[in-house]
Amino acid sequence: MSAERKPLVTIVGATSKQGRSVAQTLLGSGRYRVRTLTRNPNSPEARSLAAQGAEVLAVPLEVGRTQELVRAFRGAEAAFLLTPPIAPPATHEFALGKQLADAAVEAGVGHVVFSSLENVDAITSGKKFAPHFTDKARVEEYIRGLPIKSTFVQLAFFYTNLLEFYPPRMDGEALVFPIYLPGDFRAPFVDPRTATGPAVLEILSHPAQYAGQSLPIVGDFLSPNEMVETFQRVTGRKAAYRSAYTRAELLHHFPAFAENELLVRELLGMAEYAVEYGYFQAHRDLAWSRKVDPAHLTWEGFLRTTNWKGETLSFGTPA
Ligand SMILES: NC(=O)c1ccc[n+]([C@@H]2O[C@H](COP(=O)([O-])OP(=O)(O)OC[C@H]3O[C@@H](n4cnc5c(N)ncnc54)[C@H](OP(=O)(O)O)[C@@H]3O)[C@@H](O)[C@H]2O)c1
Repeated sequence: MSAERKPLVTIVGATSKQGRSVAQTLLGSGRYRVRTLTRNPNSPEARSLAAQGAEVLAVPLEVGRTQELVRAFRGAEAAFLLTPPIAPPATHEFALGKQLADAAVEAGVGHVVFSSLENVDAITSGKKFAPHFTDKARVEEYIRGLPIKSTFVQLAFFYTNLLEFYPPRMDGEALVFPIYLPGDFRAPFVDPRTATGPAVLEILSHPAQYAGQSLPIVGDFLSPNEMVETFQRVTGRKAAYRSAYTRAELLHHFPAFAENELLVRELLGMAEYAVEYGYFQAHRDLAWSRKVDPAHLTWEGFLRTTNWKGETLSFGTPA
């Protein structure tokens, strides 16, 4: 297919863990042209996307940028939409997601894939506070009412959270993992860096089949105890789980969170929601992403391919 006849896909948040995965997979397929949006085209991540053949545009993910977004979506057959991490007290996630979707419609995009999550507020009748879930679900609901084909992916807890945000630390002889879930609770986890792209490629390859669907992306189901046991076996390092599930435990292990009470409430609300109600609604197809991506990474596969030994890493670009 000649370059100009390949369909164009615009990727929002293209230097993110999810966005980079989508850009690299679509470019690697040889079937798409890719336009990527970033605040900083000179970042190493943006330069790397350009070197792989992506068009790179400077468009910040901020409310009030509709016309820049419309221009960035113009000519695109499809778009991958993402809202970046938005910590409370900021509350603009719904407004931003709505603006992205409205701009895609105005530009005439045929199909949007939005990175969504479950509506914790509705599922728990307001008992659990997790606005970064609920606001995405509200964006999803809004998009469903727009005159555009849409599909939604819902990513499990990221393995990378343990590398970036809740890193283990040495305590005596052992590397101690404070994890925000009870030790024996099996939860869904995923590597966003390798799992998002194949799922989105599958969706864009069969748009009619996937229109209107909400599809979880999962790499593995396992408990924190199992994660730590696997880490010990793969790395040969002595390691131990510690609970960071309750408020007192979370603040004991991560005292810096105490500066943001709403963030503490959100982290506790998210973890309690996952434990008491299930991370995904019961009717979701939890096997789908692993079926369409046989190369998906289990936690063990993630440890073996990354060779991670417990050090603190950063995969995103700074907030
Ligand atoms: N952590 C989890 O377990 C988990 C699970 C499911 C869903 N999620 C959701 O995943 C989303 C984040 O995805 P990700 O982890 O793939 O992203 P990420 O790696 O943290 O990257 C976020 C990207 O957004 C762009 N961005 C634009 N404006 C930003 C801003 N004001 N602050 C920060 N970044 C900004 C940045 O790109 P430029 O610098 O190039 O502009 C950055 O590369 C969040 O909405 C989160 O709720 C997280």
